[in-house]
Formats: sequence, structure tokens, C-alpha cells
Amino acid sequence: MTTLGTPLSPCATKVMLLGSGELGKEVLIALQRLGVETLAVDRYDNAPGQQVAHHARTITMSDPAQLKALIEQERPHWVVPEIEAIATPMLEELEAAGVVRVIPTARAARLTMDREGIRRLAAETLGLPTSPYVFCDSLDELQAAIDGGIGYPCIVKPVMSSSGKGQSKIAGPQDVKTAWDYAMAGGRVSHGRVIVEGFIDFDYEITQLTVRALGADGRNETHFCEPIGHVQVSGDYVESWQPHPMHPQALAESRRIARAVTDNLGGQGLFGVELFVKGQQVWFSEVSPRPHDTGMVTMCTQWQNEFELHARAILGLPVDTTLKSPGASAVIYGGIDARGIAFDGVEQALQIPGTDVRLFGKPESFVKRRMGVALAHDPDVELARERAKQAAARVRPRAA
Ligand SMILES: Nc1ncnc2c1ncn2[C@@H]1O[C@H](COP(=O)(O)OP(=O)(O)OP(=O)(O)O)[C@@H](O)[C@H]1O
Ligand SMILES: [Mg+2]
Repeated sequence: MTTLGTPLSPCATKVMLLGSGELGKEVLIALQRLGVETLAVDRYDNAPGQQVAHHARTITMSDPAQLKALIEQERPHWVVPEIEAIATPMLEELEAAGVVRVIPTARAARLTMDREGIRRLAAETLGLPTSPYVFCDSLDELQAAIDGGIGYPCIVKPVMSSSGKGQSKIAGPQDVKTAWDYAMAGGRVSHGRVIVEGFIDFDYEITQLTVRALGADGRNETHFCEPIGHVQVSGDYVESWQPHPMHPQALAESRRIARAVTDNLGGQGLFGVELFVKGQQVWFSEVSPRPHDTGMVTMCTQWQNEFELHARAILGLPVDTTLKSPGASAVIYGGIDARGIAFDGVEQALQIPGTDVRLFGKPESFVKRRMGVALAHDPDVELARERAKQAAARVRPRAA
């Protein structure tokens, strides 16, 4: 049974977000609407989610001592990781000691923290189809892995990285050293380990949002959202849409894979399962045990968007993954390196029928930093894509 308290009172229901970017901000807003007391943690001050939470804290979340001290001091009922770079073994320790509950589980946070844990689980433990892969610790090992069977073309990624950072495609032998050096410069933590993956020549890729939530009988149920199609440029999402039309068999296979992975990771919450599809063949790529960037489209396409679904699953409430309307999202990049930027053209963007805009409020802009997103809904998903892209293009960031 779920009982919700009153924020800022002794009976408050308290949730701590570890990471408070644009995705965490929306989870926090969803929790606020249910009267939850929220605490937004990030590595820098005035992160998007910190602007909408009851409390804001700035710490180094990869430092186990800092993380432990904060959780013991604040005593939230739930800790909700929003990013990967967290001292997850410490979360496991605190969860095992009964100090806190981690969403979906501390083990899921640890396994998805780098590419190795989740890839080995999916491919080796669960036997799910993935690209061929090898983990390498040096340029020599990388070359040997390619020569030993991965072949060309292939993709090299730092084991610890997201949003395509340090990731590149190798077309032939001439690219191997460049790709290695690029991965070393782009990895999040300076340990020189990479995954090299055979290139999958997919027709399209999707995110299968999957929710594990408690049913009326108190047992976990799995719910699926409509598939989200997306386009990635240099490993970073630029537009997404929902639903993506799929052959029924490919959809069934996608959901079989999504269920297998999320059943194993366990707990409650929303997951973003990334899959490659060619004809009726489906490959597992990776999974986020939390809302997914391509799922921002659900802010205009579902009755309960992915953030509301996550919030409800966390709190043990029922969920509804029904589509409201087809729609699309398109990313608004900073375009400049500057602090405290201004945005022109929002009114022109919103003149396009069926559109909406979210500006994340990030204190600092970079050329390729995601600063906002444009949304569009329309019964015709292709028209929605056009409109979302048009709206995003009309928003013009500039130095203030
Ligand atoms: N083996 C592969 N074959 C073909 N394309 C791939 C392969 N691996 C990755 N890609 C492409 O690169 C994109 C990013 O890869 P991946 O999701 O592994 O990186 P990431 O840094 O975790 O990205 P994000 O954090 O944005 O999800 C994929 O969505 C896909 O478009
Ligand atoms: Mg990805």
C-alpha cells in the first residue's frame, strides 16, 4: 500500500534524484505534483532539476564518501539515479544495509554504469542477440580484436561514456589509431578500456520504453509504451518520434528482449531499452534503468509521459502507457559556448500548429549541448517530425 505524506513535514515522502539534468527535472516535476518532498543532487549548482526541487545539493556523486554522507544525512525513502557516473557500489552497500531503496535497484545502477556489465549480462547471461563485441585495454588489443573476427566496419566506444562521447566508426585499418585516441580523450573516467562492436547495418533503431510497476495484487507487472523511432548523429540523439511503425514480429521480438533484460534488472521504474531492427531481426544495444532522452517525445504523445510513469512506478502507483497522439521531438542545441544565454524565436516556433517547447534552464551553453527540445503532435507522425524540426530551428540561442 502506498501512503503519500506532506512535503516539508515530519511525514514527508522523500525522494533524492542523483543527477538533475533535463530528464531529472521532469521526474522531479512529476513527483512534486504528487506532493513528494524532492531533493535534487548534481555536480554543479543550479542544474535544471535543482531549479524545481524543494532542496538542492551539489556533490561529486562518483565519490562514495560524499554520496554516503549525503544519503545518511538526508535519509530519503528512495534514491533515483539519473546519470551513470555514480558510486554505485556504495548504493549497493546502503541498499543492502536497509538505509535506502534505489530505483530500480542498486544492482541495476551498477550493471548499467558502464558498457561492460550490461553487455555481458545481455549477451552472455541472458543469451540475447547483440552486435559481436570485444573489450580492449590497448591499441594492440583493439587491432587484434578487429583482425580476430570483429572486422570492418566497426564501432569503438569508451566503456564509460554516454551521448556518443569518444565514440567513432572505423571503416578500415587506417582509422584504428584515430578511433583509439578519440576514445581515450572522450571517456568519462580516465581508464583506457573500450568496447569494439561489429557494425550492425540496421534498417532503423528504436527505444522500447518499459515500465515495471506494482499491480493491484502487489506484484510487479511489465508495461510497454509504443516504440519510439529516433535519429542519432555521432551517437547523440537529434530527433525522435512515436509510434514508429514496426512489423508485428519485430515488435514482439523487441518486447521479448526488453522483458528479459528488465526482469533481470528487477525493481520498479521505467527503462529505456535501445534496439536495432533489420527486417524481423532485432539486436539489443543497451538499456537505461531510467527515463531516456529519446523518450522526451512522450511529453506530447502519452497520457502519462515517461517521467510521470517513472514517478508512479517509484511510488508503487498504477501506470498507464497508452498513446494520446502520434508526435515527435527535435533537440535545440546551444550553438554557442557561453553562460546565461538568451533564446529568441520561441514565439515563432510556437506559431507552428501542435508544437510546444521546453527550455531546460542550463546555466551554461556549449555548441553541442542540449539546451531545449521542441515537441509536435499530429495524427500524421511524419508531419509531426517536420513540425518539431521546424520549431527547433526557429529557436535561436544567443549570448545575452
Ligand atoms: N554496433 C553498432 N552498429 C551500428 N550502429 C551503432 C552500433 N553501436 C552504436 N551505434 C549507433 O550509435 C548510437 C549511440 O550508441 P550507444 O547508444 O551505444 O552510445 P551512447 O554513448 O550510450 O549513446 P546514448 O547515451 O545517447 O544512448 C546508437 O544509437 C546507434 O545509432
Ligand atoms: Mg544509446
